[in-house]
Amino acid sequence: MAPRVLTPRRLVLNAERRFQRARLVFGHGTDNARDEAVFLVFHALGLPFNVEEATLDRPVAAEAAASVEALVTRRIAEQRPAAYLTGRMWFCGHEFAVDERVLVPRSPIGELINDRFAPWLDAAPVRRVLDIATGSGCIAIATALALPEAMVDATDISDAALTVARANAARLGVADRVRFYLADIYPDAGEPYDLILANPPYVPQAEFDALPPEYRHEPALGLVSGDDGLDVVRRLLARLRPYLASDGVLVMDTGATSEAMAEAFPDLPFYWPEMTHGGDGISVLYARDLPAPRGDAARRTR
Ligand SMILES: C[S@@+](CC[C@H](N)C(=O)[O-])C[C@H]1O[C@@H](n2cnc3c(N)ncnc32)[C@H](O)[C@@H]1O
Repeated sequence: MAPRVLTPRRLVLNAERRFQRARLVFGHGTDNARDEAVFLVFHALGLPFNVEEATLDRPVAAEAAASVEALVTRRIAEQRPAAYLTGRMWFCGHEFAVDERVLVPRSPIGELINDRFAPWLDAAPVRRVLDIATGSGCIAIATALALPEAMVDATDISDAALTVARANAARLGVADRVRFYLADIYPDAGEPYDLILANPPYVPQAEFDALPPEYRHEPALGLVSGDDGLDVVRRLLARLRPYLASDGVLVMDTGATSEAMAEAFPDLPFYWPEMTHGGDGISVLYARDLPAPRGDAARRTR
């Protein structure tokens, strides 16, 4: 029997079948075995995602097929997110370098960035943006690219993450407009921000302990946030007011912990945008809707 010719299409189908048999968990930029297979096989073969159909049926050289085999085998054996194997992930149409110092970019905030935050915010006058818990810098950098008039500050408590973020800003040509700070949530006080973005850690400890192996390759600091997942969010909201301009907006991703957050802060009138491309847990909070600080209320009633 003649040996079967290996083509990109056949390599993708083989990888997909093997991923399904291995019952891998997805959720780091893809949510199914087929997309994960395309991501890895195309990377190994150096194919763009908009490859011509005919290329998919052309024979692949033995050496290239071997590099696909190596990646697919590692994905299964190590249960490591594909992005850590390729060192790359796409976010808002930009390619970010990632490794295990940072979370794999996947926040639905990306959809709002692509829409320049419409209809939640008029982006035209936005000049000062803060991205809290920046990780790879994906949200800060994609926002700087979407809002060319804006200066973006970004914080993270992990120096290692900031090294990755700074390199991404330089590679994507926005190092002059995105400044990174090693800080616990907020940078040292400066002018208030028109827009604050945050994808903080929000996984409750017990949930983190039960996560599949894929998530255990990510820095725990980027996921866990105390017993109820709200430790960082609680401190972020408590200190928010002086950092937000009077017509400013906070956009936050708290994923599956959003219900707990809404319950924990009944006085904060969050809006919950429905995302076209999936992902719950994005909230929008306007500075004008923040309850009066206790001191002010007391003064007014005096
Ligand atoms: C969920 S990841 C988000 C990373 C990135 N923004 C993204 O969307 O991919 C959370 C990040 O928060 C950082 N972090 C954890 N606690 C923090 C704190 N108290 N202040 C600032 N950053 C913190 C972690 O180091 C991690 O990079």
